[in-house]
Amino acid sequence: MLKVKDLHVHYGAIHAIKGVSFEVAKGEIVTLIGSNGAGKSTILKTISNILKKSGGDILFLDKNLEAVEPHKIVEMGISHVPEGRRVFPGLTVYENLQMGAYTRKDKVEIASDLEAVYKRFPRLKERENQSAGTLSGGEQQMLAMGRALMSRPKILLLDEPSMGLAPLLVDEIFNIIKDINKNGTTILLVEQNANRALHVSNKGYVLETGKITASGKSSDLLNDDKVKEAYLSA
Ligand SMILES: Nc1ncnc2c1ncn2[C@@H]1O[C@H](COP(=O)(O)OP(=O)(O)OP(=O)(O)O)[C@@H](O)[C@H]1O
Ligand SMILES: [Mg+2]
Repeated sequence: MLKVKDLHVHYGAIHAIKGVSFEVAKGEIVTLIGSNGAGKSTILKTISNILKKSGGDILFLDKNLEAVEPHKIVEMGISHVPEGRRVFPGLTVYENLQMGAYTRKDKVEIASDLEAVYKRFPRLKERENQSAGTLSGGEQQMLAMGRALMSRPKILLLDEPSMGLAPLLVDEIFNIIKDINKNGTTILLVEQNANRALHVSNKGYVLETGKITASGKSSDLLNDDKVKEAYLSA
């Protein structure tokens, strides 16, 4: 479904992504793990075309995403939940969710998707008219995910959804990720929480300073000595 081939990204003179290749097949949860500054967010931003790559190719459903504008990428079925949530703080929960459907015109289906999001995240329904800036961190994460689902994505790009959340909420978010995937949405999950990410995913890639240093079935990575030592001992 999504193929990233020999991707290079520069920030000025800084070579942040140095030839990264990976694939996400339809129906999978694939995780990209790595520590601070490894380049995880950079890769997601480049897929969404918020950042320009300096080399390589990104293909989605066999179409090259080069020169496709970010809003067209959303229309094609790629939805990005950025690091730090980035909800619109001055808008209500309801308005934020409507913003997620901005590329769509099918009013009846939008309304039914809104109901589905409220069913998945009952807390959002309860806070429908509350401004998003007053939500707790976990609620903002739910809102960001709900907003992304409002574009009916084929693939969801999640950038550190568990960051800064209390353990119980982390459980809840990972359960929701599994459930969204069960309902047919493919997921590319970026996480520093390698243990959780590998438990929920089918396949994983380890990113270190802009390069993939290990990859494989998540169950194998969980048993890999190097991965264990660097990412799972805490
Ligand atoms: N706008 C920018 N200008 C210059 N350098 C940047 C910029 N954004 C990111 N970088 C650099 O690119 C590298 C990768 O950053 P990126 O944000 O992708 O890492 P990350 O893996 O998402 O880290 P974290 O887990 O902390 O979110 C880092 O060295 C960072 O300093
Ligand atoms: Mg990041």
